[in-house]
Amino acid sequence: MEILSKEVFQKHTIMQLLDANEKDALAIFKQVQKIRTLNHSNKVWLRGLIEYSNICDKNCNYCGIRRANKKVKRYTLSDSAVLACASHAYKNNYGSVVLQSGERSDNVFIDKISKLLKEIKKLSNEKLGITLSCGEQSRETYQQWFDSGAHRYLLRFETSSQSLYNTIHPNDANHNFLNRIQSLKHLKEIGYQVGSGMMIGIPEQGTSDIAADLLFLKELDVDMVGLGPFIEHPDTPLYCERHKLFSKKETLALTLKTIAVLRLLMPDINIAAATALDSLDPKGRLKALQYGANVLMPNLTPQKYREAYFLYNKKPQLLESDDLLRLFKNSPELCDLKIDYGKWGDSLHFQKRKE
Ligand code: 5AD
Ligand code: SF4
Repeated sequence: MEILSKEVFQKHTIMQLLDANEKDALAIFKQVQKIRTLNHSNKVWLRGLIEYSNICDKNCNYCGIRRANKKVKRYTLSDSAVLACASHAYKNNYGSVVLQSGERSDNVFIDKISKLLKEIKKLSNEKLGITLSCGEQSRETYQQWFDSGAHRYLLRFETSSQSLYNTIHPNDANHNFLNRIQSLKHLKEIGYQVGSGMMIGIPEQGTSDIAADLLFLKELDVDMVGLGPFIEHPDTPLYCERHKLFSKKETLALTLKTIAVLRLLMPDINIAAATALDSLDPKGRLKALQYGANVLMPNLTPQKYREAYFLYNKKPQLLESDDLLRLFKNSPELCDLKIDYGKWGDSLHFQKRKE
């Protein structure tokens, strides 16, 4: 494909790449492999994922753990359970963990997260890197958590189209697009490595919206991206729009192409292989690595809580972390990729930004 030799991608070029047929998609993936080898020496970083709590103050129209869903059994991991997960990550040389939670902004929650951050640092002799993903918070809270040991933060903008954002969220002060962008700015000012991203395949979303999302990631100058397929959940308002969705196969293909195009647009950022991909294909996350992602997040949440952290329908019984790593090792199509154990795996983009 000739357009692949371009240095800068305009929106219409990005749309052309996202609309590529299977044959052209292969040419894109080839180019991605070159860029990945050049920038990341084919390394993959690990993050042990700890789903701390499914209690959430928000009511996003797509999410299974939204506040209004009374069918969910709510849980919060005990401190010792969180520390056991972190300890597993440390002993198995993962290098870093992600602490993810539904959004709460009460002081009990804020102080608890600070305490856990400090304890994770202590148990690992300051060795484990910690990414937080706990939603929109005040600047002071972000600062408190940064001072307690978090150094990366993930907050997806979900879609850069304000009209689409308003259709997938309740229209109230608690779900405001501009506040979310403000939060991303605060995180960056404080000194976090900042991650954002979007869902692919939201009802009414077209390739033009996704191209705009990709350009928005570039404009935000993010260090990391988590993007994944939208998967309908029966206990959410957006479920009644499911007739508008692409097929699973199409959503998977579009998500993988989006990852690939992002890798071309932003060669030196970290891109996570989203868990939701495994809902569409048992090897979904591993495919994402092939197509440009360089971060894998084995789930460390104790099995009995995982069912309660269903953001989307039919969340796959995620492989145990050890099984996922075994599958990675035994997948010939991934033989050129290598897990780099024991490292924080900071984004190269962030390192360059700081120089
Ligand atoms: N399908 C896919 N992703 C979802 N998320 C929430 N609900 C869904 C869903 N139904 C994602 C959002 C959020 C992240 C924590 O989970 O992008 O940012
Ligand atoms: Fe809460 Fe995040 Fe789900 Fe929205 S997407 S309801 S903020 S957990």
